[in-house]
Amino acid sequence: MAETIDLESLTRGVLTKLLEEMRITKGAFLMIKKHKIAGVESVGYVSNELFPDELEQLFHKCAWPASCFFLLEELETDSEIKRVFTKCDIALAMPIRVEDDEVAILVFGPRRSGERYYDREISTLLVFAAEAGIAIQNAESYQAVKKFNEELEKTVAARTAELKTTQERELAKARDIARLKDEFVFVAAHELRAPVAAIKGFVELAAESKTALPRDIRHYINAISGASNNLVQLINDLLEIARSDEGTLKVETASVAVGPIIEGVLAELALIAKQRDISLGFEHGPHIPIVSADEEKVREVVLNLVNNAIKYNREGGFVKIALRTKPPHLIVEVRDNGYGIPKEDESKIFEKFFRAENAAAEGVSGTGLGLFICRMLVERMGGTITYSSTEGKGSVFAFSLPLEDSSS
Ligand SMILES: Nc1ncnc2c1ncn2[C@@H]1O[C@H](COP(=O)(O)OP(=O)(O)OP(=O)(O)O)[C@@H](O)[C@H]1O
Ligand SMILES: [Mg+2]
Repeated sequence: MAETIDLESLTRGVLTKLLEEMRITKGAFLMIKKHKIAGVESVGYVSNELFPDELEQLFHKCAWPASCFFLLEELETDSEIKRVFTKCDIALAMPIRVEDDEVAILVFGPRRSGERYYDREISTLLVFAAEAGIAIQNAESYQAVKKFNEELEKTVAARTAELKTTQERELAKARDIARLKDEFVFVAAHELRAPVAAIKGFVELAAESKTALPRDIRHYINAISGASNNLVQLINDLLEIARSDEGTLKVETASVAVGPIIEGVLAELALIAKQRDISLGFEHGPHIPIVSADEEKVREVVLNLVNNAIKYNREGGFVKIALRTKPPHLIVEVRDNGYGIPKEDESKIFEKFFRAENAAAEGVSGTGLGLFICRMLVERMGGTITYSSTEGKGSVFAFSLPLEDSSS
């Protein structure tokens, strides 16, 4: 009994069995909470037969020693307790206490066939009452814990739902901000294109002017020309990245001959390389296979890689381009004997805005977007880009493009 935890099934089940075994007509538990009768669990008593208010008042006036009982036939004639007991048809009552707590009052009606309660039955019932007290307390604690747990679960569920909505709201806000930021970069870069192109045009006109200009003015004009070239490149890079983030970057593949693209880039950079005494070479066999790619994007990749190979190089260095076929790809390699890349920067070299910190490359201008864009474009065309480098000795950047034959 002390292990049963459902209060109602406990009281009714146990009471029914007890009444049956001890041949008692009826019985009830009057549950007590905070010195008041808080509920009645009865077996055999009809409704309204017990008067809880009167019983409560009565027991308030009684002493509650442990293991005590009140037997109707032993009560003083004309006493209030006898009057209430008779009114409620109670033959025997025993308060149930556990330590200092008043738990319930156990009441019994007369025994069947008019037998009386003998000492033997009363002692059995007292033992039963003590056990019942512990069982009721267990059941009550269990119910309190259960209720607390249910409330806790409800609170947790409510808080979780609240958190989820807040999180979703914050996420939506962050997405909006990111979108606005991308839009801003795109609009700003787009708007800058026209004025920068104008500056570049006028500066070139000034540089080409036949009029004799003071040396320092010519020097400034050259500096402005260099800076505006960088600015144009930066704006183009930003636009390319913004288009990619937005999903509007278009890569249109067609049959492309890589040889002329490489030659074009080398011709474009020949002057800069010459100024730094860096040799440019392009090794290839008589037949260069055709790839499936976007001509303009391939040009951009080669330009970025050769530009780097010149920029991060010493006077007298070299840049060599070689081709290899590794079906289903053609591999373009750009090799230099320049500064190289420190080992610790290996994992970050293709990240947006990343620039290595090797002392040799200090003072070389750049934004750290070139390789990021190269990787983006090469991957869009169905290839990959890798590199190997030894700091102080040089680097090899290699990218692949799908061969025309195998892609059809
Ligand atoms: N061939 C190379 N040799 C040595 N270091 C290189 C080479 N290519 C790239 N790097 C290193 O990788 C970094 C990233 O290169 P990336 O081309 O992305 O940017 P950047 O050249 O600095 O600027 P830009 O956006 O103008 O190209 C460079 O700053 C440089 O430190
Ligand atoms: Mg670069």
